Amino acid sequence: MKKQKQLQDNTFSKNSHTKFTYNMATLFEKHFAISDVQRNAETYVLPDPQSMFEEPPWQLEKLQTLKSDLNEVKSLLNNFNLNKWQQHTNQMNKAGYIVKAVKEKIQAELVTQAWCKFYEIASNFPLVPLNEICREIDSKNFRSVHLCEAPGAFVTALNHWLKTNAPDVQWNWLATTLNPHCEGNSYDSMVADDRFIRHTLKHWCFGADNTGDIMDLRNLDALVERSESLDGGRILLVTADGSIDCTNVPAEQESVVAQLHFCETVACLHLLQKGGNFLLKLFTLFEHQSVCLMYLLSCVFHEIKITKPASSKAGNSEMYVVCINFKGKNFVAPYLHIFRRYYGNVPPAKAMFSLRDIPNAFLKRIEKCSEFFKLHQCQVIQDNINTFRKNTKEYRDILSELLYIKQMISMKYLKDCKLEKMDPANEIVGREIIERNNSHFMNRKLHTNSYNDRSKRQEPQKRLLQIWNEAKEFESPSEKSFVNVTSSL
Ligand SMILES: C[S@@+](CC[C@H](N)C(=O)[O-])C[C@H]1O[C@@H](n2cnc3c(N)ncnc32)[C@H](O)[C@@H]1O
Repeated sequence: MKKQKQLQDNTFSKNSHTKFTYNMATLFEKHFAISDVQRNAETYVLPDPQSMFEEPPWQLEKLQTLKSDLNEVKSLLNNFNLNKWQQHTNQMNKAGYIVKAVKEKIQAELVTQAWCKFYEIASNFPLVPLNEICREIDSKNFRSVHLCEAPGAFVTALNHWLKTNAPDVQWNWLATTLNPHCEGNSYDSMVADDRFIRHTLKHWCFGADNTGDIMDLRNLDALVERSESLDGGRILLVTADGSIDCTNVPAEQESVVAQLHFCETVACLHLLQKGGNFLLKLFTLFEHQSVCLMYLLSCVFHEIKITKPASSKAGNSEMYVVCINFKGKNFVAPYLHIFRRYYGNVPPAKAMFSLRDIPNAFLKRIEKCSEFFKLHQCQVIQDNINTFRKNTKEYRDILSELLYIKQMISMKYLKDCKLEKMDPANEIVGREIIERNNSHFMNRKLHTNSYNDRSKRQEPQKRLLQIWNEAKEFESPSEKSFVNVTSSL
């Protein structure tokens, strides 16, 4: 009864001695509207294609200040051992029991953090365009395409959402991702988990060269061709969850992934049909690439919202752009040739739009949005740093109080998302089959030390010294031979 009341008003403290009073709403309401029908979406217009990619890159002072503020807070982590820090932030993550709760209570298929994020977004926004799907009286067919999708949890989450919320809908899907079986693909950008893929190969397209690289135009064309031969209704949902491991360049995550996000967006414009929706993962919005991309999306969709789901780790920069009601292929047709020209190779010296072509009201909205998400993120990082420095006793006390908060948050998640069990006959592959099989691949990303250690490793001489130091621990050579090696570097 008490828990019920707390869930209703969203604020609780465990008991009179607790140090925590925690407002759950802050975790569950990280949404920001960029444009909608009331709010000036109609005044956003794309400039003439000939004037695009003509201007040098530009910066907005307010956004650069926000970037420096965030990087300053992030840089406080540079000396922390990555393994220990990750272990600590996992323990501090107030949403850390959500995945476990969904696995235990709902027993859904391929439950991962991505599964929980997708389900939360689909529950909070009209991501699955049911009105559009049901527009034709006698058919409720629709198709979705999922970009950068390994291991495939958005697909299994969408299946669960459809089977429990709209069981009459007939759905078919296609996905693409860096091919985990392609030797040339780097482990820094790839998720090499094929437990679901290997049972659903006919739904996956790895493009013209079999790499699955969405940044290659030939692969996009192969995907579009495959999507045209896929049975069942219009493509009314495209998701793009691409990311690249930026552990070694945390301050420049946005620029590193900008090219990928541009390709994902252009791919969506080739695939999606009028009235359809697009879900795109982005990180921060400080640079011209992201501001221009957001403006492009605001011009071609009727409504744009940004959300950071509660189930996304609060200390990182990831957020999702929910784009509703696409204006259609005819609307974007005059621009496709220019997007194709720069597909996967936007020169660093060019910005997609001139600053003059973006309305001031839009820029102000982006600034507000960036500030909103930056404040939340800095607060979490700062809290994590403070608790990291606590003594053992205080740390243990905090962890024990967090247990209760984590349980409450996972209960709220299940309740808000109206999650219920699905008949296992509706699973795509089968939870037990997926869980029985381990991935063919090992996780080869071994970043266990601190950022500063890894930066040193990148310089060859320091790297040699570090290898020597590591070898020393095993072989215990004499002090003398160690001095000889270092002096010869
Ligand atoms: C966070 S994971 C996606 C998780 C997925 N949505 C899920 O629900 O399981 C990011 C994915 O982006 C893919 N990726 C990164 N760069 C890519 C590229 N250039 N082309 C295709 N996929 C890419 C990675 O291989 C990885 O599978």
